[in-house]
Amino acid sequence: MSNVYCPMPFVTLTIHPGNFISRCMMSLDNMGPIDLNTYSNDAFQTLRANQLAGIWDEKGCETCFRKEQEGQQSQRTKWLEREEKYLRETGIYKNNQNIVRNKIHHLYMNFSNTCNFKCRMCGPHFSNSWITDYKKLSNHFSWINYKVATLEDMYRKQVDVDKFLNEYGPELADLRQIWITGGEPFMDDSIYKFFNELSKYVNLNKIAVTINTNGSKLNVEDLNKLDKLLTLHINVSVDATGKFYNYMRGNNFTFIELDKIIRQLTILSKTQQNLLVTVNGAFQIYNLTNIREFFYWANDVLNETDAGHIEHRVLSGPRYLRARNAPEALKRESIKQVEKLQKEFPNQFYLPDILKELNKEQNDVDIERFINWNKKLDELRQQNIYDILPDLHKNWQLEGYVL
Ligand SMILES: C[S@@+](CC[C@H](N)C(=O)[O-])C[C@H]1O[C@@H](n2cnc3c(N)ncnc32)[C@H](O)[C@@H]1O
Ligand code: SF4
Repeated sequence: MSNVYCPMPFVTLTIHPGNFISRCMMSLDNMGPIDLNTYSNDAFQTLRANQLAGIWDEKGCETCFRKEQEGQQSQRTKWLEREEKYLRETGIYKNNQNIVRNKIHHLYMNFSNTCNFKCRMCGPHFSNSWITDYKKLSNHFSWINYKVATLEDMYRKQVDVDKFLNEYGPELADLRQIWITGGEPFMDDSIYKFFNELSKYVNLNKIAVTINTNGSKLNVEDLNKLDKLLTLHINVSVDATGKFYNYMRGNNFTFIELDKIIRQLTILSKTQQNLLVTVNGAFQIYNLTNIREFFYWANDVLNETDAGHIEHRVLSGPRYLRARNAPEALKRESIKQVEKLQKEFPNQFYLPDILKELNKEQNDVDIERFINWNKKLDELRQQNIYDILPDLHKNWQLEGYVL
């Protein structure tokens, strides 16, 4: 097996929120329209052949490539290690290494880029609410790069789910797992309609489903409509507690409201047998000193003690939001918090990568970009970073940065 091989382009199908097929959810690279031919078109054949031959597609697989260069876990390495955990069987990777027409075992399903939030680290490719701010920021900063090809690419996108199922439904007999993100998957009833239709092609009780959601539109009682699924994993994106939450996630939906919804989910999971609830965050410059509070809060709402249902991934981009760029004093404070968490929760999977991130060097260009970009965004959103992280600029100044 080549050391750049990734199972995803071989055994998964990704319906991207931008209404195209991509190789996986970490990539914004458009592999073709949502029709049956795309799964084995020239772009897929070249990608698969290159991966088997040991050639990285550094641009299309940039997120994983960069993470691995930094010595962190990437989705590729996770998938390689977790065949049995993700697909409940081994041998699937080995038996699906053709250049054309492998069997689809996993589906990344998305319905649109429609979202009511505009989280600071996200962008218009996943949230149409971001489009206006993004355009204004682009007028100020020529270097802005959310990996969105052009401004023309930015409008609301909607996947034609009926067409997708008409074409791919008969190909989904080997499906074992679906991950749904978006956009915000609970903006409307697309999810429920989708599973109704999908049940014509596959037996739902063989499918494990994970849904990432911002939680704000989730009607917890409706989840019993999905009780036929083998497992239903609701992964609520939180990032941080209290004032950090509102500032980072760009909506008036309050942290108290979110807290209430997650507690309802935890209660439901005691009776709805297939339901698993987790919370997630992306570790970055905004929430680096909130991590201990976040873990404590999450344990409390999830009614657990070992932080086993918390995902706190290191943000891979945009570069200027990376925690490594924070002032050294805040990084030291964060390191202390993480080291305490490691003692309290020695099996927590995500903490080692967070420590690695905190031990990386700042980048002058990224710091300058962050300061200018964030100032403009604060202006557009009538918010103020000084209310959230009052020590940020003061400490940079002490370190000699001219702000
Ligand atoms: C794009 S969202 C879509 C689903 C849903 N709206 C939500 O927020 O969970 C999927 C996940 O990506 C995370 N995310 C957004 N921008 C990110 C970035 N730049 N780096 C890492 N994760 C990011 C979100 O916090 C969320 O957990
Ligand atoms: S809620 Fe999800 S899709 Fe919406 S802006 Fe935030 S991360 Fe992006």
